[in-house]
Amino acid sequence: MAEHEDTTDPKRGATIEDYFEEDRTFPPPEGLAAAALTADRSLFDRADADFEGFWADQARELAWFERFETVLEWDLPFAKWFGGGRLNVSYNCLDRHVEAGLGDRVAYYFEGEPGDTRTITYSELLEEVCKAANALHSLGVERGDRVAIYMPMIPELPVAMLACARIGAAHSVVFGGFSADALRGRIEDAEAKVLITADGGWRRGQPVALKANVDAALSGGAASIEHVLVVRRLGDAAPDTAMTDGRDVWWHDTVDGQPAHCPPEAMESEDLLFILYTSGTTAQPKGIMHTTGGYLTQVAFTHKYVFDIHADTDIYWCAADVGWVTGHSYIVYGPLANAATSVLYEGTLDHPGRDRWWSIIEAYKVSILYCAPTAIRTFMKWGTEHPTAHDLTSLRVLGSVGEPINPEAWIWYWTHIGGSRCPVVDTWWQTETGAIMISPLPGVTTLKPGSATFPLPGISAEVVDDAGVSIDRGGGYLTLSRPWPSMLRGIYGDTERYRETYWSRFEGKYFAGDGAKIDDEGYFWLLGRVDDVMNVSGHRVSTTEVESALVDHPTVAEAAVVGALDATTGQSIIAFVTLISGVEVDAEHGEALRKHVATKIGPIARPKTIIFTDDLPKTRSGKIMRRLLRDVAEGRDLGDTTTLADASVVEELRNRAAAQPGEE
Ligand code: WTA
Repeated sequence: MAEHEDTTDPKRGATIEDYFEEDRTFPPPEGLAAAALTADRSLFDRADADFEGFWADQARELAWFERFETVLEWDLPFAKWFGGGRLNVSYNCLDRHVEAGLGDRVAYYFEGEPGDTRTITYSELLEEVCKAANALHSLGVERGDRVAIYMPMIPELPVAMLACARIGAAHSVVFGGFSADALRGRIEDAEAKVLITADGGWRRGQPVALKANVDAALSGGAASIEHVLVVRRLGDAAPDTAMTDGRDVWWHDTVDGQPAHCPPEAMESEDLLFILYTSGTTAQPKGIMHTTGGYLTQVAFTHKYVFDIHADTDIYWCAADVGWVTGHSYIVYGPLANAATSVLYEGTLDHPGRDRWWSIIEAYKVSILYCAPTAIRTFMKWGTEHPTAHDLTSLRVLGSVGEPINPEAWIWYWTHIGGSRCPVVDTWWQTETGAIMISPLPGVTTLKPGSATFPLPGISAEVVDDAGVSIDRGGGYLTLSRPWPSMLRGIYGDTERYRETYWSRFEGKYFAGDGAKIDDEGYFWLLGRVDDVMNVSGHRVSTTEVESALVDHPTVAEAAVVGALDATTGQSIIAFVTLISGVEVDAEHGEALRKHVATKIGPIARPKTIIFTDDLPKTRSGKIMRRLLRDVAEGRDLGDTTTLADASVVEELRNRAAAQPGEE
């Protein structure tokens, strides 16, 4: 790979260069393929032949109060799916199954962090949702209103969302780990009328109060809120929960006594189902809007086929937080639309022990696990003794989402969690896409570790160069070239920002912000956010590829690389590395890792500095904060670190960076 050292390399200036090669392949396991919902190309063929007809077929799997008349009306960048149709999301997720005789099927096995459990069947969930919907009515919420939800991961959270959907109010779930300021800003932007919250939740064995944040958020503004509905989760562990007279009411006082019947509103297909805020490049978060018919169609379709859901036998567990889009689509709406049985877990990875997840899988006989690479790399760091202490043979499909999964983390997941028998589906998508877009189908796709493989049936993704020209091999920008049913319908209150953010970079195409490459066999490989791409001596090097090369070393559990300003090369590569537990750092270790990267992908990608650290700064949803690491690497002030999982990590990193001179 010596050619990459030569700055007259003809590839210089390429959109994003691709160096990393991975040639291990994993065809679908025979037994799984034999029983899979789909094991051939028929869905792809159908979608290729008639893209709208394909999505109309999927939409017809739902129950419509009124049939749709049109499939797609596309006025770039505004899409309308299933025009004329009327349906209700909570009816599709609940009543429909109860009417079909599945009322006794378990919808959720809830496990609280302290070990408390609740089993909730579809009929029970329907009753709870109806009562909550009636309670919302009693608090003045009407069709077309917005309701903010700020809760821990307890069953009342999906109940609250479904209750909103039932009466036609849009919800805006704000992740329970966000601050009072973040909550206030989101309530104000959406002009929410009611806020649903809890006294608090459990985290690492400690009660964490939430209501105090709510009071702080509401005291400084958020005047649209008329009532606050409060679930008593902590009870005696939060004795000081203050309730404001006339504004705040307890869930058990307001919901429990309501009638267990509430007719579902017949919503139009394009009515707003929810707003979910996601951070952007500016301080003001974007309120991503999702509507009813198209969203439910695509989440139900993808949940069913990507995880090969056999709803009568599978126990499915998505270990995300409902506060993120992954939880909306794959803890609440997708699984319930498919009448699946899910595990809902309140807590952290390591409470009371580092094997908490594996004990949950063993106890509930979980057959499908969907989680983030950050969790997998943490488990790698902790060692294999924790999973091997448990019986994980119930598992049959594993999923990954949220970040690129490095090939070695994939192999670890495959080997130590999946017992070398469970396909790993690496699913690429975004808050904006609403549902999975690029992913294997477990009974169909031959897997390559680290690749999200191919766009799903009905999805057309293209990698383009700087000029927007589609390329069929090599690295560039990931775009979506046709509308899809669960696409965002805009940014709440800001049409221009929607057009500008997603549709202005490449004409006629949605630009996702990610880099990707296509290999010789047409597989898609995500290369990280293009804002993070490094420019070393004129070579555009992807952070993901260098990170994967580092994680490929047997001692490395996790790595984050950033480009720091460099007088000679423009940028130089700085790597932050977390080793597997028990591995000692010695003087040669950094050099060994640099060499490993050079061998694996070429000398140009060799990190100049390697900083060893026990933890990396992550956002609350587990994504590595490269922007902040770049600031650390360049010795700048750190600015706002409140979205960090653990702010002390940054301080630690800064000290280490200062103490460690680069390789000269
Ligand atoms: C990243 C989460 C690589 C990507 C569903 C995307 C991924 C952003 C993958 C969206 C994946 C998500 N491989 N990168 N399988 N999945 N990403 O909105 O950068 O929280 O643009 O949605 O996460 O994050 P969001």
